[in-house]
Amino acid sequence: MSTDASRREFLKTAGAAIVAGAAASATTPAGAHAQDGYPGDFKVAPIDNVRIGFVGIGLQGGGHVENFLKIQGCRITAVCDIRTERTDWATKQIVAAGHPAPKVYDKGPRDFERLCETEQLDLVFTATPWEWHVPVMLAAMKNGKHAATEVPAAMTVEDCWAIVEAAEKYRKHCVMMENCNYDRNEMMAFNMVRQGLFGEIVHCEGGYLHDLRSIKFENRNEGLWRRAWSQKLNGNLYPTHGLGPIANDLDINRGDRFDYLVSMSGPSRGLQNWAAEHFPADAPQRRERFVLGDVNTSLIKTARGKTIMVQHCTNLPRPYSRIHTVQGTKGLFEGYPHRAYIEGRGRNDQWVDAATLRAEFDHPLWKDLEEQAKGAGHGGMDFIEDYRLIKCLREGTALDMNVYDAAALSSVVGLSVESVSKRGRAVDVPDFTTGRFMNTPPLGIFRM
Ligand SMILES: NC(=O)c1ccc[n+]([C@@H]2O[C@H](COP(=O)([O-])OP(=O)(O)OC[C@H]3O[C@@H](n4cnc5c(N)ncnc54)[C@H](O)[C@@H]3O)[C@@H](O)[C@H]2O)c1
Repeated sequence: MSTDASRREFLKTAGAAIVAGAAASATTPAGAHAQDGYPGDFKVAPIDNVRIGFVGIGLQGGGHVENFLKIQGCRITAVCDIRTERTDWATKQIVAAGHPAPKVYDKGPRDFERLCETEQLDLVFTATPWEWHVPVMLAAMKNGKHAATEVPAAMTVEDCWAIVEAAEKYRKHCVMMENCNYDRNEMMAFNMVRQGLFGEIVHCEGGYLHDLRSIKFENRNEGLWRRAWSQKLNGNLYPTHGLGPIANDLDINRGDRFDYLVSMSGPSRGLQNWAAEHFPADAPQRRERFVLGDVNTSLIKTARGKTIMVQHCTNLPRPYSRIHTVQGTKGLFEGYPHRAYIEGRGRNDQWVDAATLRAEFDHPLWKDLEEQAKGAGHGGMDFIEDYRLIKCLREGTALDMNVYDAAALSSVVGLSVESVSKRGRAVDVPDFTTGRFMNTPPLGIFRM
């Protein structure tokens, strides 16, 4: 067993000991790993003007670039994409916003390494396809830069460990930019949770239910890479949109943690059927074979005994939903349509439309930033997450999500694949914090 592998085995056992109720100190082996002094609320000195290198400027990356050009205290000084038209586009936006032209890296799929090695940057942000997130983040941290990634951070448990180990070793932030944590309804529910309206939260549900069939078969953007993952893996390939907000409601990695998971997938029909309906008989798309079950359902048990259901469904006709159920001992919030039920408020057995609760329970950050966020991606939540990232870096506070969140939430990809392949057997979720989850303070209600 390699040193790395034995450390991971040790940490897994240590995590299991915590769940079994052992004292935290007994599970934190002196000298066994690099994270001593790397707390869950890891902070660095304030960075007055955050210099950003941006890697992967497609649909989502382009939105982030536009946001950063509107946020004070940051500059995009280097851009990287395998498509020169995208680095050209970014350069044009940056110059039009009144900033110096960025250094361009467009010499192929590993040119981000040269960017990380050469440029003086505080942060490298990647919005590349999934397979590139971890290589970009590792190159960034190794070269002394903080790392931010689009979701999911990693597609395997091994890669989740790799980013945790790099963040601890190089003492860098490594943040997964889960924009759904900043959606207005999700934030309102979180505000209501913090005010105790739902009592103790005992069960949550989330998901990513989005008909992506036409996008997966496009000859551009996500069609160039996302469909291929449906040929490789059968599990929940995109768990973090659903899990991010409910993980905050449940204090995951801040008092509680994911303990174990079971997962099942149904048959894979949607993409095959779509190809048959949209391509001629001799088209190569008609010969493609997919392994991803159209509906994947996973259940997660937390160390404190709470339950989570998380679903993935991107290959069937259906309206968009992230489910978003937050259920406690005194009531619940439910998404799509957004509504709440609070015992003792309103009529028995009747939902209250979330829109009517907004005046009272809207998250203060949304009130603060509503105007600035107008027109930004995904209803404005992408602007709010980018704003928070820069604000935390400039003030030297902990980020809203840490590397352990990136690892725990993303590990559901690999763990669901493993459980599906074992007839839905339970698989342990590693404690990437090695016990730190017990001492990390819960998230508060952020202001502007
Ligand atoms: N948070 C959200 O709501 C949300 C929405 C859409 C996409 N995403 C995520 O954003 C990421 C990108 O998705 P997208 O929709 O923008 O896809 P996209 O295909 O439009 O963009 C990817 C970009 O990366 C570039 N690229 C590919 N390999 C590269 C490499 N090795 N080095 C540099 N550039 C490279 C491509 O040329 C392209 O411009 C994915 O991780 C996806 O899951 C998140």
